[in-house]
Amino acid sequence: MITLGNISKNYNGLRVVDNVSLEIGENVIYGLIGKSGAGKSTLIRMMSLLESLDTGEIYYDNCRVDNLEREKLSRCRRQLGMIFQHFNLFSSRNVFGNVAYPLEIVGKDKETIKKRVSELLKMVELSDKFDYPISKLSGGQKQRVAIARALANHPKFLFCDEATSALDPQTTKSVLRLIKSIRDKIGLTVVIITHQMEVVKEICDYVSIIDNGKIVENGTVKEVVGFPHTKIAREFISTLDTLEKNALQTITSGSATCRLHFDSESVTKPILSYLIRNYQLDVNILSGAIRTVNKEPLGELVLKFIGSATELNRGIAHLESVGVTVEVLDD
Ligand SMILES: Nc1ncnc2c1ncn2[C@@H]1O[C@H](COP(=O)(O)OP(=O)(O)OP(=O)(O)O)[C@@H](O)[C@H]1O
Ligand SMILES: [Mg+2]
Repeated sequence: MITLGNISKNYNGLRVVDNVSLEIGENVIYGLIGKSGAGKSTLIRMMSLLESLDTGEIYYDNCRVDNLEREKLSRCRRQLGMIFQHFNLFSSRNVFGNVAYPLEIVGKDKETIKKRVSELLKMVELSDKFDYPISKLSGGQKQRVAIARALANHPKFLFCDEATSALDPQTTKSVLRLIKSIRDKIGLTVVIITHQMEVVKEICDYVSIIDNGKIVENGTVKEVVGFPHTKIAREFISTLDTLEKNALQTITSGSATCRLHFDSESVTKPILSYLIRNYQLDVNILSGAIRTVNKEPLGELVLKFIGSATELNRGIAHLESVGVTVEVLDD
């Protein structure tokens, strides 16, 4: 478990990480998503003890780690592995040499290193490439080598800073699936920094949205994707905002534009047809989507309801009563 208590960081008088508190449970995959410059990399560098804190405290499994002396700090950092967008592999070493490096650093003998590297390469499905130079690998293969290297000393935590941003969508998926399967197999807490909602939806259990150094929203992926509260969350989740703006310009009295969020139960029910039959309302569909989050369908519809204020309120109350969350965008 990783606990952040009110951590902050300033650069040149600018607050880049602002009073962040967060608890990341054991064996979860936790996403941190935000726009460029939001402070994500700074936050993950603080979490991985590469960057000092201006305020606050960090705990790994209830043990305070942000104030350790040099030697204890480097021992503590062995509990974590990191992977990055640009892989950061040694081009002078081949695949075997890269994965062996962290084992050499901690003084393992040759036999142990050989055995461990071969286990790791098997885990990332690169056993046949052990003697390849790094330059002969694809991006996805390079990231697999980086994952194997990060896991060499059996860390408890894996930190990934935009680890799939340089990969195409198909390769991104396969790398994410690999990380998930490793977590399932060996147990690992994974923190993933990304600006891609697809990454969060593919792999994460929980997500926090970071904006201007602050956590503005967090929860399970299902909660945040299904029922976003902030504008920035909606921007990440939805491409519907431009459609809504167009729609809002044409709104007349006696109508309301609403975004409806359906959970996995309500998404399969004929809720709208019931509404139209039983209330004096007309409905225009402005946009809609069904997303799959952790294999569960979540629906989102932006609708324009036309009818009297009384009927509108009755209709919305009905929708809420059958488990649909209604967000009134304008009326
Ligand atoms: N070492 C540093 N010295 C001074 N300013 C820094 C330093 N590192 C980051 N910053 C500033 O802190 C802010 C947040 O940077 P950070 O790299 O954490 O953002 P990010 O969310 O990771 O962005 P991106 O998605 O582009 O990687 C930026 O304004 C950046 O210029
Ligand atoms: Mg960054």
